[in-house]
Amino acid sequence: MEKTLSIIKPDALKSGYSGKIIAMLEENGFVIKAMKKLHLTKKQAEGFYIVHKDRPFYDSLCAFMSSGSVIVMVLEKENAIAGYRTLMGATDPSKAQTGTIRSLYAKNIEENAVHGSDSKESADFEISYFFSRLEII
Ligand code: CMP
Repeated sequence: MEKTLSIIKPDALKSGYSGKIIAMLEENGFVIKAMKKLHLTKKQAEGFYIVHKDRPFYDSLCAFMSSGSVIVMVLEKENAIAGYRTLMGATDPSKAQTGTIRSLYAKNIEENAVHGSDSKESADFEISYFFSRLEII
């Protein structure tokens, strides 16, 4: 079993898509091990996305991620990291495969509905950013 971190982003929450997205996760066999709703500060968003600090979109991304509430979840499944990335679809929704979360619910390459860890190393960092060990047993 593998764990990954999922975030439902402010655009999707504001549009009322969180229930549909959570249903897709469960229909695809992901077990929600932990979940919370938060409104990140810009500093907290900057800390989460620190790997992107030199990218031109970093400031705008962190402003967006702190513009409204998010739902963060720890998901568990066999090969959860790769499986969830497949279910999300490409970062840019115009390139996302039909039927994926981003093809259905993302607005654009930045306001793209959901986030998922891209490797075991980032899943470890991202899960521990939001959850203590006690919360994910
Ligand atoms: P996410 O999977 O959360 O990882 C980094 C985020 O940066 C990505 O989703 C998008 O929200 C955002 N992002 C990636 N590329 C771009 C880009 N070219 N322009 C604006 N935002 C981007």
